Amino acid sequence: MITTMHKSVVALAAGLIAGANAFWRMECPGRVGLARLDPIVSPGQVSSHVHAIHGSSAFSENADTPNLLAGDCTSCRVTQDKSAYWHPALYFQNTDTGKFEVVQQVGGMLAYYLLYGNNITAFPSGFRMVSGNNDRRTYTAGDPNQPDPPKSFWGSMKQDDLAQRAIGFNCLNYGKTPEGTLYRHYLPDKAYLDANCKDGLRLELMFPSCWKGGDAKDSPNHQDHVAFPDLVMTGTCPKGYPVRLPSLLYEVIWNTAAFRGKNGRFVLANGDTTGYGYHGDFMMGWDEAFLQKAVNTCTNLSGKIEDCPLFNVVDQGKATKCNLRLPLPKPIIGENVQGPVANLPGNVQVLGGGSGDNRNGPAAPKPALTYVPGQKPSDSASPLPGQIFKDKSSSAAGFGIEAVTVQPTTPPATTPAPEIKSYYSTQYVTNGNVVSKILWVEQFVYVTQYTDTTTTVGIPAPPTRP
Ligand SMILES: *[C@@H]1O[C@H](CO)[C@@H](O)[C@H](O)[C@H]1NC(C)=O
Ligand SMILES: *[C@@H]1O[C@H](CO)[C@@H](O)[C@H](O)[C@H]1NC(C)=O
Repeated sequence: MITTMHKSVVALAAGLIAGANAFWRMECPGRVGLARLDPIVSPGQVSSHVHAIHGSSAFSENADTPNLLAGDCTSCRVTQDKSAYWHPALYFQNTDTGKFEVVQQVGGMLAYYLLYGNNITAFPSGFRMVSGNNDRRTYTAGDPNQPDPPKSFWGSMKQDDLAQRAIGFNCLNYGKTPEGTLYRHYLPDKAYLDANCKDGLRLELMFPSCWKGGDAKDSPNHQDHVAFPDLVMTGTCPKGYPVRLPSLLYEVIWNTAAFRGKNGRFVLANGDTTGYGYHGDFMMGWDEAFLQKAVNTCTNLSGKIEDCPLFNVVDQGKATKCNLRLPLPKPIIGENVQGPVANLPGNVQVLGGGSGDNRNGPAAPKPALTYVPGQKPSDSASPLPGQIFKDKSSSAAGFGIEAVTVQPTTPPATTPAPEIKSYYSTQYVTNGNVVSKILWVEQFVYVTQYTDTTTTVGIPAPPTRP
């Protein structure tokens, strides 16, 4: 008896998921500050770790929506947006010196306002939320070595699992088709970054877009008043969260490539080397009625803020000149957040992420998820989330941002694997206003030869635990 196995990659389903959804891409080319401030988690105090802060100049440890609205400028390009957007900074720890220095951020950040779903309601005045979990050091939403299963297999995932899939670390190499948004859920190690990500690393964070409504503008953990729809970015809201909010996605590029040739590792400001503890904060700083009008009006599919007739758009130079106006709390005046410093600011301990709760244990080996091309922009001037929105750091303003053209999308290559393993990837192809979703499945075909009988059985790969 001879048993052979053939494997091929087949498109399981290629279908239209939807016409393109309207969105706008809020460009925040400037950072108003880099400081241990977090008015949501640590109101009135200094924060445990350093955040990169974008938006209103009136951000402070005490900020609320009216304060933010009273700011005299914003580091984002739409003057009506005085919201605050913040997230932990990325540091490099040099093995030879032991010291930490902050990685340079490229192009500020983007906050996509994706208008998924129907009857989208503006964030109410006073609204705030956190996405991600500062304390997480292990991934429990599946196998981080594998791409996520196709969304048709996500079933009814727990909010905790969806939150882990709402984080992405996108390896940037502008010579290749970009990876898909939220493809890799861990911070790759330095060797991988050096070898593959010559244009740096983009950190991606999706926020929940389903809301309890009413007066629930916050909750004790700053998360329970909101929930992810069942497909994280899109999908259906869970019971008890009937109101659909704008779907926020942060994209932040860090110039990890500048550390090629140096020995060391990357660590988030909260001491996380795994990436699973990445998180971000949003505080509403629009006039609520204006934001509702923008949600209803700014539906040009280009996503460009210039194409929304309501927005007062300023150039990057103006946005980058905006800085925090209020004095820092005393304990962090003059704190060296840039480095090189012997300890992370706030004396945050680096916890590598042993298994389970053993966060003090030796760092677990990094998962090994390799490059898979994502979607190709149909219009390179208006990239969708996950597509390239490249920094032009040599521009006079220092923060020029432009889209670049990328290679056509190719299907994932079939690579021979010694073991029987289910493999999936999801590919989105954008063509005009239509986004097609293609599910790639490795199909195993067992050919068993008996003396003179051949039986061929096609076994579709079984759905795995999401
Ligand atoms: C739209 O959402 C609001 C809550 O934000 C709700 O009061 C209203 O009934 C909804 N309208 C429709 C047509 O579903
Ligand atoms: C969208 O914006 C483009 C410019 O980028 C403009 O040419 C087009 O007419 C706009 N479409 C609509 C429906 O307003």
